[in-house]
Amino acid sequence: MNENFLLEAAEAHARERLSDKRYDHTMRVARTAERLAGLHGLDPAKACLAGLLHDLMRETDGKKLLRIAAERGVPVDDAERGKPMLLHGPVAAEVAKSELGVRDEAVLEAVRVHTTGATGMGPLALAVFVADKIEPGREGEWVEELRGLADKDLREAVRESLASSISYTEERGRAVHPKSREALEWLGGKS
Ligand SMILES: [Fe+2]
Ligand SMILES: [Fe+2]
Repeated sequence: MNENFLLEAAEAHARERLSDKRYDHTMRVARTAERLAGLHGLDPAKACLAGLLHDLMRETDGKKLLRIAAERGVPVDDAERGKPMLLHGPVAAEVAKSELGVRDEAVLEAVRVHTTGATGMGPLALAVFVADKIEPGREGEWVEELRGLADKDLREAVRESLASSISYTEERGRAVHPKSREALEWLGGKS
């Protein structure tokens, strides 16, 4: 891929589509993913690109996400139909493909699964998933712990992150996305 061109185009798209706050988050995720990639032997430019793209559709309303998903043949499950915002990753991956010409499957996967996680997610997807949780704008004791874990072991960091968000969701009586549960089990955690 023409990396510089894609990185610039992805940043411009993020700038155009997102509020200042979300754009700043996006830039921090991109840098964090890039740093984690360097630590874990992954391609930093790909990690940065996926970070720039991950929340591209996060401020697009649910109806529009459902419409784009239908137009582009993105599969939509019951959980996503009930809470279309869950589609912002899968739809962003489609937009990245069609509007920016991103073809790298690992980058597209990282964007697609960053909200829920997924069974079999690759190393780049793990890095972006956890970068979203530990970027410098996130605060708290638990985040600090997760940062330490992410520097050492991406799978373990994603497992911890999923386990904790699943129990948080359950405590509040909300539905846990089946993909998150499957991802946690795949990573060797109990859900
Ligand atoms: Fe997101
Ligand atoms: Fe995000």
